[in-house]
Amino acid sequence: MPQYNLFVLPGDGIGPEVMAEIEKIAAWLSREGIVHFEIEKGLVGGAAYDAHGTAISDADMGRANAADAVLLAAVGGPKWNGVPYEVRPEAGLLRLRKDMNLFANLRPAICYPALADASSLKRELVDGLDLMIVRELTGGVYFGEPKQIIDLGNGQKRGIDTQVYDTYEIERIGRIAFELARQRRNKVTSSEKRNVMKSGVLWHEVITSLHAREYPDVELEHQLADALGMQLVRRPKQFDVIVTDNLFGDMLSDVAAMLTGSLGMLPSASLGEKSAASETRKALYEPVHGSAPDIAGKGIANPIAMIGSFSMALRYSFNLGELADRIEKAISDVLEKGLRTADISGGATTILSTSQMGDAILAELQVVA
Ligand code: IPM
Ligand code: MG
Repeated sequence: MPQYNLFVLPGDGIGPEVMAEIEKIAAWLSREGIVHFEIEKGLVGGAAYDAHGTAISDADMGRANAADAVLLAAVGGPKWNGVPYEVRPEAGLLRLRKDMNLFANLRPAICYPALADASSLKRELVDGLDLMIVRELTGGVYFGEPKQIIDLGNGQKRGIDTQVYDTYEIERIGRIAFELARQRRNKVTSSEKRNVMKSGVLWHEVITSLHAREYPDVELEHQLADALGMQLVRRPKQFDVIVTDNLFGDMLSDVAAMLTGSLGMLPSASLGEKSAASETRKALYEPVHGSAPDIAGKGIANPIAMIGSFSMALRYSFNLGELADRIEKAISDVLEKGLRTADISGGATTILSTSQMGDAILAELQVVA
């Protein structure tokens, strides 16, 4: 049976609750002799701050870098509102992305037919929606320098962030998008603000020339980021793969998430460069939802996005695409049966707890097997 190291970072809020469901599934996979994950646990976000005053320790960073894949649940919460900016919970997540060079963030937005009525859009607009946002994750305004607040000495201050992209950064994220499109519906929509930003002019130029050189078989269109936001809520099913920068991708992926009915449903993968020697990539998988401090500790959080993230790990890190298909089918079947957690209840009479939902998916998985 294949064996891999999984570094698990439950983090804050509902994080530990949803992560517990992954451990159940992993234990079952191992009992069945399908794949064995050696699970090591670490601390990130507020949990790491409470333990050692940083958003992630160097030791845990080392474990993350050494693992075959990292699973992270969620970071942050009001408890840490007052901590210094450098060690706020989000800094742990940003350090993982940057230090592991996870430049490609894949955020699928899939609307399960059983949940189409939970979307804020009309059913016919979202039923069967299946798009993929490919967000650049280690560049742009998130990390560009200078990044500071300076005192102008006249009672005024100036806040500065820098949006910066080099050709290679745009090319490598573009390649990820085109390759994914080839396995899907063969269409890429590239998005920037070239009407006001120089980085947008370069983005447009690099994607256009990459397309002409290496991917002429893929359909490519360009949409300005504001117009794309509008089109996402107007007619979301026109999209297949959307490729965009770090900040626009952050915003647009929240919009796309809401189209599907619940933020609690969406997984994501953050991938690094392929290492030449082993064909493997560094990778971190996490749900798009946050730590949901308002419901933390109650055992009612929806574990589906976390389970979906684990499924993405099987697909992108461990070449277990068929197993991932089975898990995704189990999720969809459980929803078809009307089983719901509170966030997607939509008037359902019985509401499952986090662990009941995990159990239901595991039970379904055994049937699908
Ligand atoms: C996300 C989150 C993060 C981001 C925060 C928590 C730093 O919103 O993953 O989308 O802005 O990238
Ligand atoms: Mg975000």
